[in-house]
Amino acid sequence: MKTIVAGNSQDEILQAAKILRTGGLVVFPTETVYGLGANALDGSAAGRIYAAKGRPSDNPLIVHLADPEQAKEYCFPTPLFEKLAARFMPGPLTVILPKKDCIPETVTGGLDTVGIRVPSHPTAKALLQACGLPIAAPSANLSTKPSPTRVEHAVRDLYGRVDMIIDGGPCIIGLESTIVKLTGEDSMTLLRPGGVTYEQLCEICRNVTVDKAVYSRLGDNEKAEAPGMKYRHYAPSAQVIVVEGPHEAVIRYIKQKSVAASCGVICFEEDKTCFSGPVFSLGSRLSTEQQAQKLFDCLRAIDGQKEIERVYAFMPETGGLGLAVMNRLVKAAGFIIEHVKEEE
Ligand code: TXA
Ligand code: MG
Repeated sequence: MKTIVAGNSQDEILQAAKILRTGGLVVFPTETVYGLGANALDGSAAGRIYAAKGRPSDNPLIVHLADPEQAKEYCFPTPLFEKLAARFMPGPLTVILPKKDCIPETVTGGLDTVGIRVPSHPTAKALLQACGLPIAAPSANLSTKPSPTRVEHAVRDLYGRVDMIIDGGPCIIGLESTIVKLTGEDSMTLLRPGGVTYEQLCEICRNVTVDKAVYSRLGDNEKAEAPGMKYRHYAPSAQVIVVEGPHEAVIRYIKQKSVAASCGVICFEEDKTCFSGPVFSLGSRLSTEQQAQKLFDCLRAIDGQKEIERVYAFMPETGGLGLAVMNRLVKAAGFIIEHVKEEE
């Protein structure tokens, strides 16, 4: 398939809108990560997304809207949804609600619920407005690869597999949206942490439960609330090991372990000079925003250096956006975490 790589001028957005209206696939930027979009009302268009990504058909797609007001056309919103929408939409939040019949099962992987998100990125908004459709879009990476935070990531994974790729520059947040499932009038489950933090959700809702899959690997017989959370994800071909403990002890431990040239380190900017091998900086230890922006870039950079067989990574702080950084990093590590104590 011929892929057009375009900028985000009004003409190019109109061209992309036309592709979407005629059943094609368009990669577009959002504030979280790049998305791979198709008409969410057209089951066969959505089916092409699964083929382009190599995505299992039981892993549902998020439906993107220009305005939260439109949600009632596609699902059954509740008062808690309205509260969340007033505070966080447009923005990096996806809310799972019971779906209406107009959303095809291909989009929801056979589930009777649908994930609704209203992105804030100006190009995503312009595209949604120009096509006048809800857009079903997963992250624009090949299945199992880290989500694309720069257009070149999407080009590397999907060139030749989609009709158009719109370049909107690097994504500001860098990790995918927060996903919540509403479970009652004043209760919800956090299925995937992201740009809207657990603490912010607690300001709106009394009972926020964090799903087990955020912290730990699900057993073979356990059902994932968000089907995507059960799949291997983000992992570079090198083995990633996350190290947790008092900061100085972690530095000493990783220094000892990472002497071989085949061993890389994912660390904070402040600690970069402690290590001699290939080092990948997550940005400042004090900025979870920087860590979120850089994590997927680091994982892709590691994949680009084939001689690296093993990578040691610092465990980030888990407050605020740090919970999302921790979740993606431990998933990349297949939940392998080593704990060090002061004296080691
Ligand atoms: O920031 C984002 O959310 C990006 C941008 C493009 O919007 N999209 C994204 O989509 O990350 P994707 O497909 O890579 O991740 C969607 C996750 C998957 O884990 C999927 O299982 C879950 O959302 N999901 C979607 N619909 C669901 C539903 N009805 N019930 C439970 N989980 C759902
Ligand atoms: Mg994804």
